[in-house]
Amino acid sequence: MIVLGIETSCDETAAAVTGDGARILSSVVASQIPVHHPFGGVVPELASRNHVAAIVGVVRRALEEAGLSLRQVEGVAVTRGPGLVGSLLVGFSFAKALAYGLKIPFIGVNHLEGHIHSAFFADPLPRFPFVALLASGGHTALYRVAHHLDWALMGKTRDDAAGEAFDKVAKMLGLGYPGGPAIDRIAREGDPRAIRFPRAWLDPESFDFSFSGVKTAVKRHIETHSDFKKTIPHMVAAFQEAVVDVLVGKAVRAARVSGCRHLALVGGVAANARLRERMAAAAAEKGIAVSIPPASLCGDNAVMIAHAGYHRLRRGERSPLQEDVFSRHLPVKRWTPGNRLDP
Ligand code: KG4
Ligand code: ZN
Repeated sequence: MIVLGIETSCDETAAAVTGDGARILSSVVASQIPVHHPFGGVVPELASRNHVAAIVGVVRRALEEAGLSLRQVEGVAVTRGPGLVGSLLVGFSFAKALAYGLKIPFIGVNHLEGHIHSAFFADPLPRFPFVALLASGGHTALYRVAHHLDWALMGKTRDDAAGEAFDKVAKMLGLGYPGGPAIDRIAREGDPRAIRFPRAWLDPESFDFSFSGVKTAVKRHIETHSDFKKTIPHMVAAFQEAVVDVLVGKAVRAARVSGCRHLALVGGVAANARLRERMAAAAAEKGIAVSIPPASLCGDNAVMIAHAGYHRLRRGERSPLQEDVFSRHLPVKRWTPGNRLDP
């Protein structure tokens, strides 16, 4: 089944064509980073307007690269939420109109389920059941994935997302937007033990995260050290280590507690070199295999949306054409040792 995937939840206009879910025929991602860079973060109205300007060209390119015409597309999958409403509406309405015009099935996809599905493009592939650590600019959460469409939330951030903390710390230090890649690069020249920033483990049983404390600690360090500019590599290395410690510690414990021998690392922050290295080492020590998708599929993309959409379409799911987008989380299944439903 040829599925066209479309993603416009934040600041990337993306389209992809996949065959039977996992065969990538094309993937196009038009980044808006240059548009938002001067503002140090995503400006929602500019994001929506740029999606409007970009979407036709991005979809056309995805079809051209796949060597297919619109008539050969058999289903359309599009991100329905969570995300910026104005941005979501562009891709969602476009996809809907396309499916209506072509008289083919249409499915709205949860962006978070999409990120989980990027794990199916990793080498090695994760085997069910596995734990997925999603760490991006908008979300940080742990899921236990029992099957393609059966996943349960184990814990999530109570304040900032991990990527958001990277972005905010980078902004404080004048390292530009997005901050994650800059910190990743500069931290290699620093000593992570030079400064001790706090780790928020919360209560020992919890799989929730909190990154606002470490962000504030960095801010205080800047305010109390007038010569902080001389030690930026040490500061970012120490900050990164504090975030990575908690992500790795909780993810590995989540896998062990929920009986999983496989762990997947997804979302934009999965591109972080230190996180990849520390996760691989900690998991290997416990006999857990780690799957990380290629960097091009860690950040927002439409391949993951097409893959998740394919699995939903294949089991007969369809979204009604009057369906709306959603901006915040929908109630999801929560993991408990007995895996009961808990909205
Ligand atoms: O998944 P993504 O593209 O968008 C969201 O759904 O949020 O993630 C973007 C986030 C940004 O916060 C960015 O700073 C972070 O991922 N990021 C990184 C790295 N590359 C991207 N964070 C740490 N290290 C990186 N190498
Ligand atoms: Zn995302």
